[in-house]
Amino acid sequence: MSVSDSNKLVMALPKGRILKEVMPLLLAAGIEPEKEFSDDNSRKLRFATSQPDIELIRVRSFDVATFVAFGAAQLGVCGNDVLMEFDFPEIYAPLDLDIGHCRLSVAEPASLSASDDPKRWSHVRVATKYPHVTQTYFAARGVQAECIKLNGAMELAPTLGLCRRIVDLVSTGATLKANGLVEVEVIAQVTSRLVVNRAALKTRPIQVGGWLEKFTAAVEAATAAKAGAKKAAG
Ligand code: PRP
Repeated sequence: MSVSDSNKLVMALPKGRILKEVMPLLLAAGIEPEKEFSDDNSRKLRFATSQPDIELIRVRSFDVATFVAFGAAQLGVCGNDVLMEFDFPEIYAPLDLDIGHCRLSVAEPASLSASDDPKRWSHVRVATKYPHVTQTYFAARGVQAECIKLNGAMELAPTLGLCRRIVDLVSTGATLKANGLVEVEVIAQVTSRLVVNRAALKTRPIQVGGWLEKFTAAVEAATAAKAGAKKAAG
């Protein structure tokens, strides 16, 4: 069956470590990407799959939300950290994929934390990729947050004197530890979600809704398999 370009759906997936966790779900939903998709050296950005109506693009996690919000991609995988930062009304995030578990936290140098009391802050200066979430979080308790926007390697900011605190994702905590930082507050727990463009779901309900159902079934099967493995382990 050939599918014309206008009938194709584009699914935006985040580069990096989440991609490895997405792959089993993608395969369980019946989407097998072309070989080059797993080749980190490939300069290709757009990939065919075993499904004639689905194409994949590999972009930065923040850009997944932008592609889906503007309808350039109809489906995507995106963390709730990114969804909270942008708060795009055009994005519908109906399914928690139960992958990409981490948290968005405030961190500072261990030496500062020993004598610091976050309850006494009235103004904080933080380096972050999440200025909107950070300001909203602190404003809710009357703290004014001055954000310095960085796109990565936030953990360098306190050591180099850019500012004393950061707001960033923490998974294992290894990056904080390696840079002499400690987590002082958790702003939000984060997981990856399946996201869809609301207009696409309305105009192509069978096609988009069909993929939503397949991913829901894939997540349910993964949850059952995890529970089975846990039980077997005692
Ligand atoms: C994320 C995050 C931290 C790190 C935390 O960066 O920004 O730097 O992971 O993980 P850990 O607690 O397990 O050490 P990532 O490696 O995803 O790259 P990025 O900085 O390009 O976002």
